[in-house]
Amino acid sequence: MDLNSVQDLKDVLRPDFFHGYATAATQIEGAWNKDGKGPSIWDTFGHTPGKIADGSTADDAVRAYDFYRSDIALMKTYGVNAYRFSLSWTRIIPLGGRNDPVNETGIKFYSDLIDELLRNNITPFITLFHWDTPQALEDRYGGMLNQEEYTPDFVRYARVCFERFGDRVKHWITYNEPGIYTTLGYAEGVHAPGRSSFRERSEEGDSSTEPFVVAHTQILSHAYAVRAYREEFQERQRGTIGITLHGNWSEPWDEEDERDREAAQRALEFEIGWFADPIYKSGDYPASMRKQLGERLPRFTEEEKKLVLGSSEFYGMNHYTTFFMKHRDAEPDINDNKGNVEVRDENKHGVPRGEETDTQWLRAAPGGFRKLLNWIYQRYQMPIYVTENGTTAKGETAPTAEVLNDEFRIRFFEGYVGNALARAVKEDGVDVRSYFAWTLTDNWEWAAGYADRFGCTFIDYESEEKTRYPKQSAYYLDKLFKHLIKDE
Ligand code: NOJ
Repeated sequence: MDLNSVQDLKDVLRPDFFHGYATAATQIEGAWNKDGKGPSIWDTFGHTPGKIADGSTADDAVRAYDFYRSDIALMKTYGVNAYRFSLSWTRIIPLGGRNDPVNETGIKFYSDLIDELLRNNITPFITLFHWDTPQALEDRYGGMLNQEEYTPDFVRYARVCFERFGDRVKHWITYNEPGIYTTLGYAEGVHAPGRSSFRERSEEGDSSTEPFVVAHTQILSHAYAVRAYREEFQERQRGTIGITLHGNWSEPWDEEDERDREAAQRALEFEIGWFADPIYKSGDYPASMRKQLGERLPRFTEEEKKLVLGSSEFYGMNHYTTFFMKHRDAEPDINDNKGNVEVRDENKHGVPRGEETDTQWLRAAPGGFRKLLNWIYQRYQMPIYVTENGTTAKGETAPTAEVLNDEFRIRFFEGYVGNALARAVKEDGVDVRSYFAWTLTDNWEWAAGYADRFGCTFIDYESEEKTRYPKQSAYYLDKLFKHLIKDE
């Protein structure tokens, strides 16, 4: 656990840098139908046979609903100064809609959680939406496929949260990874609500159109919620609000080939620019997307463009890995949403995209993180809040001394936080203001179930109490941030 490779990075991060852990309600809370909570689409999906790799549900998850106080105490021992978590919409408004009743028990749960964080000097960052659309809204009008019905429901939910928590919460994130919600839920059909053109996965859905409609709904409802915050709350509450986007780095398969360099750039535009260009750059989708998708890509009105552009006050960035992109000569597939590229694990010279983890899509590639920080900062010129980054590690199946001394994860953080993030700040001049590790404890990794362990704390799922065992990476992060962050 030495800091050798980052010795020269002492004090490079600003004194008010936020660091801690990120979580999401569905993945940790449990109590899925307790104290008035309504079902979300992930409750439905998890209860549908064949959808989750290990056949598990998030019914109990890691019981953070019951153990949030001890989890905060644990985080305190990990030295954090901030915590990013999401609210379960259906715990607050069980049916979700603008005229549906508010569940005071749900409000009290989050209110107590916020108070407990503040008592411990941990700054809360709240995500309003981390994929758990109310099932009732999905049933009523098709959820995000119906922008006109959905938007006022989301804005009302947001307003309830600002009203009830905004006196104490100063950092708001509207949506988490709208692109993943969209593509996995409506193109591939492997996440809730599980719609897809692939009939072996789903009886309903159209992968060539629905993802673009759902993305459009998220962008617009985000912008309307931000407008409500700005007009009705911000002056008094003095908080800040934005959105969190996912993004992998794309590297050309053959860096000598102009067509692969273009493919890598196009992949970044389809994955990141899809959401970030309208919000931070132009009020509209990237030209490369319009060119490939034509009228399947919805259009913003002039008024909507103005509403959307500038609707996020920081760049919320979730980042995990890097892929190689090879151009395709063929016409794009009708269901393509990646920019007509071939995604590869190795480049032309057989160099792998990174070290393998316990998660198929995720390989450790810290260099790509540094490049993406630069790409985003140059293209969008916004302060960056890294709102998620982390890894699984092979062989973490029991809380043995060896597993708890998680050297792989420690090395991952040394690369991503030290040699990528801190060097991007010091040597490239990128403005980065937070880092939230994914995640505090092992938890329910959506369709992958409980097998993919991203935690800096091991969970014994067999035990009634979901016993927590700290991994060494949590202490390493503490030590690393003490080194990197400048004292006031
Ligand atoms: C991003 C998502 O926001 C989070 O819910 C997920 O668990 C992590 N990536 C790891 O896959």
